[in-house]
Amino acid sequence: LPTPTEPPPESLAPDARGVLVLGAGDLGRVGGRDPQQYLEPVRQAFASHARGETVLPLKPYLYAPGPDHHPADRIIAMPAHVGGVSGLKWIGSKHDNPTARGLPRASAVIVLNDPATNRPIAILEGALISSMRTAAASLVASQLLARSDSATVAIVGCGVIGQRHAEAFTQCWPALERLVLHDVETSRAVELSEFLSRRGAVDVDVAADAEAAARAADILVTCTVGASPYVERSWLSPGSFVANVSLVDVTEDVFTSVDKLVVDDWDQCNREGKTIHQLTTRGVLSREDLYAELGEVVVGTKPGRENEEEIILLNPMGIAITDVACAHLLYRAAVAAGVGTWFDLEGTE
Ligand SMILES: NC(=O)c1ccc[n+]([C@@H]2O[C@H](COP(=O)([O-])OP(=O)(O)OC[C@H]3O[C@@H](n4cnc5c(N)ncnc54)[C@H](O)[C@@H]3O)[C@@H](O)[C@H]2O)c1
Repeated sequence: LPTPTEPPPESLAPDARGVLVLGAGDLGRVGGRDPQQYLEPVRQAFASHARGETVLPLKPYLYAPGPDHHPADRIIAMPAHVGGVSGLKWIGSKHDNPTARGLPRASAVIVLNDPATNRPIAILEGALISSMRTAAASLVASQLLARSDSATVAIVGCGVIGQRHAEAFTQCWPALERLVLHDVETSRAVELSEFLSRRGAVDVDVAADAEAAARAADILVTCTVGASPYVERSWLSPGSFVANVSLVDVTEDVFTSVDKLVVDDWDQCNREGKTIHQLTTRGVLSREDLYAELGEVVVGTKPGRENEEEIILLNPMGIAITDVACAHLLYRAAVAAGVGTWFDLEGTE
């Protein structure tokens, strides 16, 4: 709770009754498709988290009953308070949306609330922000945990999150010379490779399997919807950095043998039967084995990479402070630019 000496927060809303609705097109008009735009709010969110300035309740996972339950069939409520603003990402996922329905796996809305009144002031399309902030978190982590001369980035899983990472590394990682892509659906890796090759910024290769991709990588990013781990310790080169974005891909052996294990938030990672949760439940891993939360490295209370040899694993559960921080930035930009559609929440009859 705030101390009584704190001044009351100022309203962010230009119109006390208005709610600004921002679709993906609106977000694109205020920089929402530019990977660079997301780096600073994401970095700042991690820094605030390390300084204890955020509120981040554990996110509930809603699994509707049904046959053949897949772990990626869920809706997650992700509330957070960061940078003086509260908000919620409500993100739904069905693993077979792309293959069975031609729809993205994930879809979302983000609601921002005015700090002065706690009223909702904006509803933003959330899947774009979510995917962009996920890639931004991997970039911010790479700047601290990867070798700065990492020239080859491998991406396993070439759906939306894999594409965002490919774009973000292409645009924001100066040392990048070569992208290596792999997807169980080879056509997806080929399609992404052709898209990136048309831009011509880097060499792009499609790997026949995940092992070939991982062995080539200075930086390895997993972006699959696989159900079981497959990235083995022996595939990782000395000095490599792994961002285990899809959370189930890296084998337990990697978690227990890397030089540094980093997470975004330890409590959030210890849930939903993800690998860290399984390892702590069995007593194989504990908080003492964790090197750092990423925010501690961002603010410098823990050093990042310390030599050219260490293998570092980031396990980013995905935390709502990054969504709210990025949504806040885009909301401000949209208000300033007059972008979006306003509606009166209570309305008139
Ligand atoms: N940690 C985070 O912050 C965060 C944030 C957003 C999404 N995610 C995760 O990222 C993953 C990808 O999301 P998406 O929206 O891109 O999904 P998507 O369905 O669009 O793409 C997933 C891709 O992975 C491929 N794939 C599945 N299993 C594979 C395997 N074993 N090897 C290689 N390729 C494989 C699929 O063919 C598909 O192209 C999901 O698991 C999601 O939960 C994590």
